[in-house]
Amino acid sequence: AFEKNTTVVVFGASGDLAKKKTFPALFGLFREGYLDPSTRIIGYARSALSQEELQERIAPHLATPKGDADAAKIPLFWKMLSYVHGPYDTDEGFTKLNSHIAELETQRGVTTSHRLYYLALPPSVFLTVAANIKKVLYDPRGLTRVIVEKPFGHDLKSARALQAQLAPLFKEEELFRIDHYLGKELVKNLLVLRFGNQFLNASWNKDNIQSIQISFKEPFGTEGRGGYFDSIGIIRDVMQNHLLQILTLLTMERPASFDPESIRDEKVKVLKSMAPIDHDDILVGQYGKSLDGTKPSYLDDETVTPGSKCITFAAMSFKIQNERWEGVPIIMRAGKALNEGKVEIRLQYKAVASGVFNNIPNNELVIRVQPDPAVYMKFNAKTPGLSNATQVTDLDLTYSLRYKDFWIPEAYEVLIRDALLGNHSNFVRDDELDVSWKLFTPLLNYLEGPDAPQPEIYPYGARGPAGLIDYLTKHNYVMYSKKNNYTWPVTSPE
Ligand code: BG6
Repeated sequence: AFEKNTTVVVFGASGDLAKKKTFPALFGLFREGYLDPSTRIIGYARSALSQEELQERIAPHLATPKGDADAAKIPLFWKMLSYVHGPYDTDEGFTKLNSHIAELETQRGVTTSHRLYYLALPPSVFLTVAANIKKVLYDPRGLTRVIVEKPFGHDLKSARALQAQLAPLFKEEELFRIDHYLGKELVKNLLVLRFGNQFLNASWNKDNIQSIQISFKEPFGTEGRGGYFDSIGIIRDVMQNHLLQILTLLTMERPASFDPESIRDEKVKVLKSMAPIDHDDILVGQYGKSLDGTKPSYLDDETVTPGSKCITFAAMSFKIQNERWEGVPIIMRAGKALNEGKVEIRLQYKAVASGVFNNIPNNELVIRVQPDPAVYMKFNAKTPGLSNATQVTDLDLTYSLRYKDFWIPEAYEVLIRDALLGNHSNFVRDDELDVSWKLFTPLLNYLEGPDAPQPEIYPYGARGPAGLIDYLTKHNYVMYSKKNNYTWPVTSPE
């Protein structure tokens, strides 16, 4: 029922997120036939934009992979879209919006009003809008779904306060806390890879794996967004949410079924098994100018507080205290203004017993989330021909080569569709959020307190602070690739 005649209201419609992600995702779903033409999409924001102005903002971000055939769908998409402007903090705009929704429903002969509200809003107006949705727009006869975007608080206390204010307004099943990393193809694939393959399933433990890395690398700095980033830092921006989600799916136990609650129960369980993050065992950095002087330092960004100690790079280690993972270091690292853009998971297996082989490289399983999604295993084989020497090669599943004719949806397309269908599997549950803040808040307090270490300056375009390789080595990562002239460039761990 929810799939037809639904009204989608995008709050913050004139903002960056809506323009670059939310509207393009709605268009992507429509283009591929996953959004019924009876859907109505209404943008709401404070700016007095005309319909044309809104379209002009969104249009450059709409993807048309099949060229003209897809471009022809854009005018049809505009027909589904309208815009209402008004304040966030008084009833007036909401009443106008409600009449507009009702009018569109009358035109379509809709009797039961199903509504999806997408809150692409800054924290300052988030709760006000949520309260006004409940007060003015909420229609108990139909289904209500509310997608909310990070930040979900700034630390444990503020996250709990936010939750306490949100909970009386919407039921947990009406709320969809989005973490767009959960919509990425390879992140969604983790449970199938792990539990659907006995050779991985059986080896996924401390007896076989000696180190795990989850890395997030971006080749650009905060350019322009420094003001926002300065009070957030890399840990809140991508680690407490996106990378922790990956870590959880990578290490949780097998759920009883693939229903949302079973999955999320297991996620919470493994999060609770994690030891506090040891703040004496972290590496923190901030980017300086590039070595050639062409790229600015973080502090050159005029929107940043002068002398800011904000962290743009961090590496930390997680310890999971259970039978599966005891003693396996799990390194999470993330940085802006690095040498490349890449998000990957790397599991390094233990070495085979010594004797017949002299220093044969360890197996490594790499799950590359982006760019160019791939799953590959670094794997030893005999050098072909008369030689009996061993050689590292790969078992390689590169999506672009193997799945040529598949449409791999954008993360936001996946998640908006899930919300429309009422599927919570890939959204963050309230208790999950609570444990994740419990884990990170002491570390953040330390890093923002009087004893905070000075972030190490690394040049824009570097691999991170100078101590990174030592840090990885200290946490059981054995760097064989260099010694063995392993040539496939994408597998370089730095
Ligand atoms: C966002 C962060 O949540 O994720 C950004 O706020 C970051 O700083 C972005 O760039 C990364 O997302 P993606 O999908 O581009 O990897």
